[in-house]
Amino acid sequence: MISPNEYSERRQMLLNLMESPSVLLIHSGVEKVSSADENFPFEVNRNFYYLTGIDQSDSALLIVNSDGEMKEFLFISPFDERKEKWYGKRLKPEEASSISGISNIMTNSSLEAKLDMILREDSYGEIRRLYLDLDRELKIADETTTRDFKRNIETTYSDVVVNDAYGLVTTLRLRKSAREVAELREAIKTTRLGIYSFWAKMRPGMKEYEAADIFHHVINDNNGYQGTSFNTIMACGKNAAILHYPNPQGTLNDGELLLSDLGARCNYYCADITRTVPVNGKFTDFQKNVYEIVLGANKMVAMMAKPGVTIEELQRATVEYLASECLRYGYIEKKEDITKYYFHGVSHLIGLDTHDPYLNPLGRESKTIKLEPGMIISDEPGLYMADRGIGIRIEDDLLITKDGCEVLSKDIVKEVKDIEAILANR
Ligand code: GLY
Ligand code: MN
Ligand code: MN
Repeated sequence: MISPNEYSERRQMLLNLMESPSVLLIHSGVEKVSSADENFPFEVNRNFYYLTGIDQSDSALLIVNSDGEMKEFLFISPFDERKEKWYGKRLKPEEASSISGISNIMTNSSLEAKLDMILREDSYGEIRRLYLDLDRELKIADETTTRDFKRNIETTYSDVVVNDAYGLVTTLRLRKSAREVAELREAIKTTRLGIYSFWAKMRPGMKEYEAADIFHHVINDNNGYQGTSFNTIMACGKNAAILHYPNPQGTLNDGELLLSDLGARCNYYCADITRTVPVNGKFTDFQKNVYEIVLGANKMVAMMAKPGVTIEELQRATVEYLASECLRYGYIEKKEDITKYYFHGVSHLIGLDTHDPYLNPLGRESKTIKLEPGMIISDEPGLYMADRGIGIRIEDDLLITKDGCEVLSKDIVKEVKDIEAILANR
């Protein structure tokens, strides 16, 4: 778990990025409707969670920067007996305080008045700048997003300037603390258990969803039902050539490869791992050849990943490597044709989101940000030859260190001989 002290430190760092004087308001979000009166399971706004550790809808964090001095308030819903009977327990003020390290806990019905005191009555001096998390997906009440909220503010307070806090918070999220790395290590450990479990049980004739079910059962058993980082991809044979293969209803066929792209999460830190293995335990010569090309690219990226390098550079090197190798083995006739078999990025940031946000305050994309120690990225080259019935991807999670990187998922085997040895032991 992240300590309340660490959450406090994060808020202090955020304060240092805010103009002075100013005020910042970040909502946790509310449930989203899936259909009729059904909701999707609640997913907390990760920027709010990063700053508070509070995983609850209908809450908000308010930070006042008054000449560099911080005042902070956490707004949560008041106790409601009926709601608790229907939907379960909510945090009490003292619980919210001990998780977040914020001592001023208020009920969310008082938020508007508090904001009005700050922006109109100048209770902390003349503050005319408000930061909001303008993530377009952030719904803060029925039929209201933060973008609607911004328009209301601009109508109500014509002299207030609204800035986007999204880039400020996501900048802080780029470099992970030791505690955050520990959370991800835990998520990867659980993912490994899940992968090894369905490898042990898979047989020709089994359905893709049966393999996925084994994975889900084992990770739930080991992470206290914290869920997966994203919808599990379990794709056999030519299905694996569909990047985000959605419905794992196919069959695990003798002689085919099974691609699994999946991850357990631990306090929202998202493992993102892909392995591709033969259903019957043995690679054919052709499968092995293509697999070794992808593995070569995967190792090259891990060799290259270090401070100062950009994701764009990793991508260029990957395309060049895959193209030369495919040309060498006659899988393509000219290098440019590699786009037929490889058509996605080799790397993205990883953290509280599987694809951790990629904008800094200047709006630059992560692809061009130079890697720094503490960043975690994926390393996921692949080759997808639908015309030959195979799709191969190998994905590791890399922690950038002072002078290179650590492959956090190194204990999940990926060498041909190690995979065949594990599968032979079933
Ligand atoms: N599973 C999504 C990705 O690898 O980026
Ligand atoms: Mn993945
Ligand atoms: Mn990935």
